[in-house]
Amino acid sequence: MVGHTDTTHEGVAVSGNALRPQGPIMKLPIAYTPEWNALREHTKEIESLHLRDLLLDEERTDNLIREHNGLYVDFSRQNITEVTMQLLLNLAERAKLRSKMNAMFAGEHINNTEDRAVLHAALRMPRDEAVYVDGANVVPDVWEVLDKIKDFSERVRSGEWLGATGKPLTDVVAIGIGGSYLGPLFIHNAMQYDEGSKNEARGRKLRFLANVDPVDVAKALNGLHPETTLVIVISKTFTTTETMLNARTVRTWLTAELGQEAVAKHMVAVSTNLKLVEEFGIDPQNAFGFWDWVGGRYSVTSAVGILPLALQYGFEKMEEFLKGAHDIDCHYRDAPFQENIPVLMGLLSIWNSTFLGRSSVAVLPYCQALSKFPSHIQQVHMESVGKQVSVDGEPLPFKAGEIIFGEPGTNGQHSFYQLIHQGRMVPCEFIGVVKSQQSVYLKGELVSNHDELMCNFFAQEDALAIGKDSATLRAEGVPEHLIPHKTFSGNRPSTSLLLPSLTPFRVGQLLALYENRIATQGFIWNINSFDQWGVELGKVLASRVRTIMHTARTRSRRINITDGFNPSTRKMINRYLDGKNQ
Ligand code: F6P
Repeated sequence: MVGHTDTTHEGVAVSGNALRPQGPIMKLPIAYTPEWNALREHTKEIESLHLRDLLLDEERTDNLIREHNGLYVDFSRQNITEVTMQLLLNLAERAKLRSKMNAMFAGEHINNTEDRAVLHAALRMPRDEAVYVDGANVVPDVWEVLDKIKDFSERVRSGEWLGATGKPLTDVVAIGIGGSYLGPLFIHNAMQYDEGSKNEARGRKLRFLANVDPVDVAKALNGLHPETTLVIVISKTFTTTETMLNARTVRTWLTAELGQEAVAKHMVAVSTNLKLVEEFGIDPQNAFGFWDWVGGRYSVTSAVGILPLALQYGFEKMEEFLKGAHDIDCHYRDAPFQENIPVLMGLLSIWNSTFLGRSSVAVLPYCQALSKFPSHIQQVHMESVGKQVSVDGEPLPFKAGEIIFGEPGTNGQHSFYQLIHQGRMVPCEFIGVVKSQQSVYLKGELVSNHDELMCNFFAQEDALAIGKDSATLRAEGVPEHLIPHKTFSGNRPSTSLLLPSLTPFRVGQLLALYENRIATQGFIWNINSFDQWGVELGKVLASRVRTIMHTARTRSRRINITDGFNPSTRKMINRYLDGKNQ
């Protein structure tokens, strides 16, 4: 949180109680605006209120529920009042949120450090829509790739496209990491037990290989046979060390058995770098492209996700998924802010983190099929908004981004919920599904498995919000020495999101909801959510270690001082090399 100040900046008075933006909307850094200051002032009022009392007000609850095309979102367990909402909407206005969103949807180069447009929304637009990047409509390009995926996946699935020995390719290994892995993995998990999708996947396997760890290679290939396996190398840049090493390893696994020519039938690629795809030995005809205006972590609706998933579930299912994402993009683009679910989620995240000082968020799907959703959102969120400077390179006078973590309920309850209930303040996002993909109900049980899961969903959000005080504990006869241990302060915020079911369409909605919520946060904080310079240093250092380690290995020598490592790293590398040689 920034320190309190009443100073003026560029001639605009900073007032503590402004409910509407005052003065010209101009280049005032967001943290020095009256709207920002009004929210800081407002924290005092909010800290004096308890959710236990706020939740008794039905009108407040009604005012804090939003619905869109089957999605039901309840914000009433946030530490907010109507005034908070209005102040946050004022901040959005001051931050020029609408014009920043419009710039994104219009294909402007809003990723300023890489001079790129940010148009993952174009990946899910219907054929007849148009969106221009540098004067060219990109929707036909998107559909050209989608048509190619449809054609290819149907040929593979029908057995028209055969492997080198004439056998159908029933299994797929998708090699990629980060955004070229987490999104497709999340969607695969989400669709695996959807009845319609499950039928489409009958007799087929989809494996992912991300980690360069040889154990991950062994797991991915375990039980597969080169003759019936199709390998997809997924890398936006086609330079990522882990992916390229894994691709070479798996190519060797294939060619050792089937010969070099087998690559043509057994390996395809997804990339923006078709030149490197060809140099690797994959026919560019067997490459599925995307564009620099698709960020890696926003690429699951490009060929990155659609190709492996269409091979597994059929192209039609993936079209449903794309429609779900498009539905939310339209809602985000068009709905007024007070009705706009991704905008409100983004604003409330800023309220919790920047103004109330809560540095993490738990994403808690009460749905096993969404078990990989928290990991995917962890990357999209933390790589996007974990930044230290504004779009103009000015140091931020506040902390942007939150630490995202999560596990499916009820597993999380038996893991980290203790801290969430009685330790640190962690805003939670509960995600529940009304109709499960599977039904299990044993005769004689009180409720079905799914009802039991959802009983926990409803109970946990109230336990966090309402808590349990010492008077109640005493009335229950709890011995005095245990009262401090058994007290729950409550007043812990959460948002509840209910999906009617978990079909591919709903999965697409959920994905776009979070993508757009994260964009909202970046726009308000005025940071570039679409670059990721913070991951570069580690890559450079790894490359230096790789070179030195190679030299040490080939010359059977230990790392010495002249190799330029600090004593700690030198000693550890030597211990590692010595251990290898034993
Ligand atoms: O580690 C950062 C990152 O650049 C991610 O943003 C990206 O999704 C991932 O690496 C993989 O990159 P690529 O698709 O180019 O292999």
